[in-house]
Amino acid sequence: MSQRIKVAAALKNGPIGALVDVRGWVRTRRESKQGFAFVELNDGSCMANLQIVVDQSVPGYQQFIKQLTTGSSIGVIGELKASPAKGQAVEVHARELTVFGTADAEKYPLQKKGHSFEFLREIAHLRPRTNTFGAMARVRNALCVAIHEFFQSRGFVYVHTPIVTTSDCEGAGQMFQVTTLDLARLAQKQAELDYTQDFFGKRASLTVSGQLEAETFACAVGDCYTFGPTFRAENSNTTRHLSEFWMVEPEMPFYDLNDNMRLAEDFIRSIIKYVLDHCADDMKFFAERIDKTVLETAENIVNHDFARVSYTEAIEILETCGQKFEFPVQWGTDLQSEHERYLAEQKFKRPVILYDYPRAIKSFYMRCNEDGKTVRAMDVLVPRAGEIIGGSQREERLDVLIERMQECGLNPDDYWWYLDLRRYGTVPHAGFGLGLERVLLLLTGMTNIRDVIPYPRTPKHAEF
Ligand code: 4AD
Ligand code: MG
Repeated sequence: MSQRIKVAAALKNGPIGALVDVRGWVRTRRESKQGFAFVELNDGSCMANLQIVVDQSVPGYQQFIKQLTTGSSIGVIGELKASPAKGQAVEVHARELTVFGTADAEKYPLQKKGHSFEFLREIAHLRPRTNTFGAMARVRNALCVAIHEFFQSRGFVYVHTPIVTTSDCEGAGQMFQVTTLDLARLAQKQAELDYTQDFFGKRASLTVSGQLEAETFACAVGDCYTFGPTFRAENSNTTRHLSEFWMVEPEMPFYDLNDNMRLAEDFIRSIIKYVLDHCADDMKFFAERIDKTVLETAENIVNHDFARVSYTEAIEILETCGQKFEFPVQWGTDLQSEHERYLAEQKFKRPVILYDYPRAIKSFYMRCNEDGKTVRAMDVLVPRAGEIIGGSQREERLDVLIERMQECGLNPDDYWWYLDLRRYGTVPHAGFGLGLERVLLLLTGMTNIRDVIPYPRTPKHAEF
């Protein structure tokens, strides 16, 4: 009897001498003059391929050998043997071969190696079969496990906040509308939109953040986090913005901004360490093929404290550093990516937490400072990715919050349930949001955020 086994397991501690059943896709095939063929089999369970040795005596050899082109899917039953060849511990000597599906060598887009990332984006359905995107899938998976482990081990409750919402968390109006109204027909009739006739009876959108709903749970079950897709209809075509991205948002009652910063720092360090410990081969690949500094950067983050400077201090640093920036720096304006990266990459050479931002550039829910000018906001800036975390202590004082909403042009009535948290048993609390894809940019050294998510959505792009 043969035993079905994944390539990763076969290579790691496969049962030498046993009859195994391996299945996957052919990466390459090479025929020797001595009448046998070597097939490199990959099943996605790890970076490495498993070498299959197919002897002429295997039934159907002549017919099989023509079908074993790159991309074809096969099953092999054979003996797992210690390999005499360099660079691999084991190989499989085939006794039985099955071809599940062929892949026409003339047409298969991944027949050749070395395609550009731009080209691979156009075949996002096939790119997971390449080394880079296979490694990305596994690193992304490990990162998500690490996120859950971090919070679960600290007793946080995982909360599912809604995807469809009628409130705008960031108050920035960058939301995708969700509707079942027949827009084409209404446009033809030049009719006014009447949202009471819409599916939810009012205007609804895809969420930009689960924070507000997470706050309601933090004020009930205590420390919690939400983790899911979020959507932003901002028209920014950069290498760091997606229209659909994943965000993890913890929310903690009785935390002030300092507690929040401490948690964010522990969190980032812990999830990066987890990936280094669990994805050594994939991370080695990124270091060898994508950016030779990725391991150094990750280890540096794991082993050092983050710098902490106020927004005001950061502006002074940027104004006096002598560096030329495309966008001018001035107190009161939002930092651009070039400023964030200068601080993390050149000035501090490690992650930096900036706090106490001008209230005019931050969201309504952030706690107002006594100075009347700043709010208890924090952003974590890292090399390569720039801002990976945005968070704050929340405004827990009802009157101040209502005033802030009005200042931000929001109608407090629309947020009646959010205000109820301040009416009934309000507590100081804080939280933050971490962009999953930004962490992947940092970890893998990939330079375009479209290449760290399986199916990127950006302005004018939602194929697949
Ligand atoms: O700074 P942001 O907008 O903060 C919030 O949404 C808060 N409600 C979070 C909270 O306090 N619970 O977004 C948080 C993070 C950013 O730091 C960035 O890493 C990521 O989400 N992010 C994006 N990632 C990819 N594409 C985009 N368009 C992103 N916008 C934000
Ligand atoms: Mg932000």
